[in-house]
Amino acid sequence: MRTITLVGIGAGHPDHLTLQAVEAIGKAEVFFVIEKGTAADQLVALREAILARFARKPGWRLVRIADPRRAAAGDYGAAVADWHAARARLFADAIGRELPDGSHGAVLVWGDPALYDSAIRILGVVAADGLSFQLDVIPGISAPQALAAAHRIPLNRIGEPIHVTTGRRIAQGLSPEVDSTVVMLDDGTGLATIDPHGLDIWWGAYLGTPDEVLMAGPLTEIRDAIMALRAERRAAVGWIMDTYLLRRRA
Ligand SMILES: C[S@@+](CC[C@H](N)C(=O)[O-])C[C@H]1O[C@@H](n2cnc3c(N)ncnc32)[C@H](O)[C@@H]1O
Repeated sequence: MRTITLVGIGAGHPDHLTLQAVEAIGKAEVFFVIEKGTAADQLVALREAILARFARKPGWRLVRIADPRRAAAGDYGAAVADWHAARARLFADAIGRELPDGSHGAVLVWGDPALYDSAIRILGVVAADGLSFQLDVIPGISAPQALAAAHRIPLNRIGEPIHVTTGRRIAQGLSPEVDSTVVMLDDGTGLATIDPHGLDIWWGAYLGTPDEVLMAGPLTEIRDAIMALRAERRAAVGWIMDTYLLRRRA
């Protein structure tokens, strides 16, 4: 039986790796990584640096999988389902070819594998299609946790819920019932669209990396500055990942 471990590696700082993650990396012989062929492949470079430090099995290998293109327009759900199916086929081929029975493979997953990441679902499809392996998941530090630590804030007010959602969703409005909203996967549209009145924001980009930038304050006052910094950093670095907490003032 093959074993595949999804290892949460944290949101950008190499020291986000847990001892459990270090141990799992040390046991694996084959590491699978998806490459997009974009500037964001700097994220692949961080994974390679982690492997150079913590992969231990003699002869361990990195297997690169080219990311299939995702349809840009049309039905979002259908486009994502097609993209996941294409990724699952590529994973199944790579596992069948590169991971002999009885050996141990791993996928280094950005942040935590349970939060806005497709790896668990994709390996579920691979298993349902007939390839048998034992799946293990190691949790990692997620971007919202890195954001809260960087700003030295709790994500929730005492006893209150938090809504974690995407930029696409908040472009349609914030939940009326929940005052604290953590936003991920925003291409800038959500932040630009939201009604800023009565909201405070704690924003962070490139959290945990040497490029980390943070801003916080009333959204009416600092949204333009965040949008300008976001555009400037994106142009300079070639990509951007940001996460922010929006909170309705009590
Ligand atoms: C595909 S999701 C992956 C989330 C990841 N599994 C996690 O647990 O944080 C990518 C989104 O995570 C957030 N993100 C990940 N790393 C980040 C970082 N270092 N700084 C800011 N946001 C980050 C951004 O909102 C980005 O659009």
